[in-house]
Amino acid sequence: MSVTEVDPGPKGAAHGSDLAVETHNLTKRFGASVAVDGVDLLVPRGCAFGYLGPNGAGKTTLIRVLLGLTRADAGSMSLLGYEVPRHRDVALARVGAIVDEPRFHAHLTGRENLELMAAAREPAARERIGPALERVGMSARANDRVAKYSMGMRQRLGVASCLLGDPQLLILDEPMNGLDPGGMHDMREMIRSFVAEGRTVVLSSHLLDEVERTCDAVAIVDRGRVIRQGPINELLSGANMEVQIECSTPDVARQILASSGFAEPVEVGADGLTISLAAGSDRSIVAELNRVLVDGGVSVYRLQLNQASLESWFLEVTTRLGAS
Ligand SMILES: Nc1ncnc2c1ncn2[C@@H]1O[C@H](COP(=O)(O)OP(=O)(O)OP(=O)(O)O)[C@@H](O)[C@H]1O
Ligand SMILES: [Mg+2]
Repeated sequence: MSVTEVDPGPKGAAHGSDLAVETHNLTKRFGASVAVDGVDLLVPRGCAFGYLGPNGAGKTTLIRVLLGLTRADAGSMSLLGYEVPRHRDVALARVGAIVDEPRFHAHLTGRENLELMAAAREPAARERIGPALERVGMSARANDRVAKYSMGMRQRLGVASCLLGDPQLLILDEPMNGLDPGGMHDMREMIRSFVAEGRTVVLSSHLLDEVERTCDAVAIVDRGRVIRQGPINELLSGANMEVQIECSTPDVARQILASSGFAEPVEVGADGLTISLAAGSDRSIVAELNRVLVDGGVSVYRLQLNQASLESWFLEVTTRLGAS
């Protein structure tokens, strides 16, 4: 899969599909507003995939449509190669999901809640309760009532409930919500460990930094539409770069660059220059800048090439859309 070219795979692929989630033109309207707007999503198996967008972008609605909690108005979708809603029961047997926030019976203990959920699944689900609690670090609190749990503990119990069906696909709506930095770290590690076992994790988030750190691939969604999707490193290679140069006599340095034919925008600061480079620029340009400046008698103390983070790239895209 690449950013610009996506192979939709064989039509009506069987469950041997190498895509965990596939949607074409998926659309969901609420009256006149379109919450999910012609979404084409291709999530490869065995990765962590972030569905990234600001509040109201349609993340929860997309997840609800995928899980059959609400009906799509148009489009098609499949989970683990099974077309849904036609084969929803087979597909969902291997899917664990948290939508909005995990909901539990507050007067029951964590373990009792999982027992209730396991009873609705195959017999093996009951045997997975202990290992699932262990996995999410909740064994010690499993016999406390959920009413006494913090938000982070409820999130962990939610993940444990997802594991009862030994899922090939986990769909987590804003799993970092309400977590402190330590809790986010643990959640990230958990998600990565699921991926290391060959499971696929689709998570929604408005936290760009978290997605960048947790996910292999991302779809950026704004007002119901997917703006970009692909592996994070490919999306980054489409982002602008800048070179920061710490040097003596920044004004002289700028003149030297201008007279040497450097056309890139240069910003002059108190102790150096910042030069913007177009997306896809070769990093050999950094060495060239250094050579020209040193040959011109400028002392170069430090050179640093910064690539835009996914966050700045994302903001750039949404700002551009907002301005159009
Ligand atoms: N049941 C509903 N009836 C009417 N409109 C709805 C309903 N559910 C969602 N919407 C609207 O659809 C749009 C997308 O909402 P959604 O909850 O999917 O966004 P989100 O990306 O999950 O946002 P957040 O980050 O706040 O969780 C919003 O404009 C919302 O008001
Ligand atoms: Mg939401």
